[in-house]
Amino acid sequence: MTPAPGHEGRTGVPLKQGSLVLGIETSCDETAVAVVRDGTEVLSSVVSSQVDLHARYGGVVPEVASRAHTELLVPVAAQALVEAGVSGSDIDAVAATTGPGLVGALLVGVSAAKAFALTWKVPFISVNHLEAHLYAALLEEPDLDFPLVVLIVSGGHTMLVEMLGHGEYVLLGETLDDAAGEAFDKVARFLGLGYPGGPAIDNAALSGDPTAVAFPRAMLEDGLDFSFSGLKTAVVNHVRDHPEETTEDVAASFQAAVVEVLVAKAQRAGEQVGARALALGGGVAANSLLREQFLGACADAGIQGFIPSRSMCTDNAAMIAAAGWYRHQRLGPSPLDVGADPRDRLFNRA
Ligand code: KG4
Ligand code: ZN
Repeated sequence: MTPAPGHEGRTGVPLKQGSLVLGIETSCDETAVAVVRDGTEVLSSVVSSQVDLHARYGGVVPEVASRAHTELLVPVAAQALVEAGVSGSDIDAVAATTGPGLVGALLVGVSAAKAFALTWKVPFISVNHLEAHLYAALLEEPDLDFPLVVLIVSGGHTMLVEMLGHGEYVLLGETLDDAAGEAFDKVARFLGLGYPGGPAIDNAALSGDPTAVAFPRAMLEDGLDFSFSGLKTAVVNHVRDHPEETTEDVAASFQAAVVEVLVAKAQRAGEQVGARALALGGGVAANSLLREQFLGACADAGIQGFIPSRSMCTDNAAMIAAAGWYRHQRLGPSPLDVGADPRDRLFNRA
C-alpha cells in the first residue's frame, strides 16, 4: 500500500521517547479523544457519551451516532489538548479506531485523524477496536507479564485472547451467539430497566437476591467458547411464568449466571495456557460482580489478576492511543489509504 504523503521515510522508525499520541475513538456511541505519552501515561482522556441521544430509541441509532460524532469531534479534541496542556504541534502521531464498528461513525473519526495527521505532518496509525480493549490493561499496568490472557466483554464481543507478546494474539474462545453486553442490554430492555442495560442491571442487582432464580449456565463445563442467547430466553420465559418475581431478583440472578460463566472460563483459559497474568477489558468489565469475582478466581489459579479502572473498560480513546503507540513501535505508520472497516477482525479463525 502507498505510504501516507510525508511519511514515506518513517516506516520502521519508532516514535522517540516521550512522544505523544492523540487517540480518537468513534466506533459506536462515544466520541472520545485522548493524549497519551509513550503508550502508558494518560495526559487527558475526554469521553462524550451520546447515551441521552440514543436512550429514547432503546439502542444506538447509527445515523444519529454519525451526526453526533461530526458535531462533537472537534470540541472534544480541543478539550483533550487543553486538558493535556499541549497544542497540536506537540503531537507526534494520531491514532484512530478504523474498525470494527458502525461504518458512518468510524468514518468521522478516521477522516478527522487523517486530517490532523496531515496538518501536523505526523504519522497516522490505524487501530483495531478490540486490540485497544486488550491494551487497556497494559496501559494501566505496563509490567503485566506474557503470556497474558484477556477476557474482552463488550457490547459486540465476548472473547478470551492470549497475548503472547505485543501484537501476538491467539483466540482461545468466543461467543457463539450474543455478546455478554448484548445479553445485558436485551434483558434490561425486557425488564424495563432502560438503556444502556449493563449499568442498569448492575444497579438493580444490588438490591436483589442472586440465588432467587437458578438460570442456566450455558457451556459452563464445556471448553472456552460462550453462549448467552439461551439465558436471555430463559429470563423472558421465567418472567412470563412468574410475574410475582421482583425485577431486582431477576436482574441479580441473571447477572450471577453471566458472571459465573465468564469467570470460570477466564480461569480455565489462564490455567490451560499457563498464563502469567489475567486481565479484563470491554464495557462489561465495569460490572461490579464481575470485578469482585474475577480477582478471586485469579487468586485461586495462582495467576496475577488485573482489572483496569471502569473508565478504561468502557469505550475511551486513551486505549486507542496506547494500542496505536505499541502498533507504531512494531510496524510504523499506517498508509493513508487504510479506511474504516466495520468488520475488521483481530483474528481470522481457521
Ligand atoms: O466496550 P463498550 O463500552 O462498547 C463496545 O465496544 O461494545 O461496551 C458496552 C457494553 C454495553 O453492552 C453495556 O451495557 C455494557 O458494556 N456495560 C456493562 C456495564 N457497564 C457497561 N455491563 C454490565 N455491567 C456494567 N456495569
Ligand atoms: Zn468497545
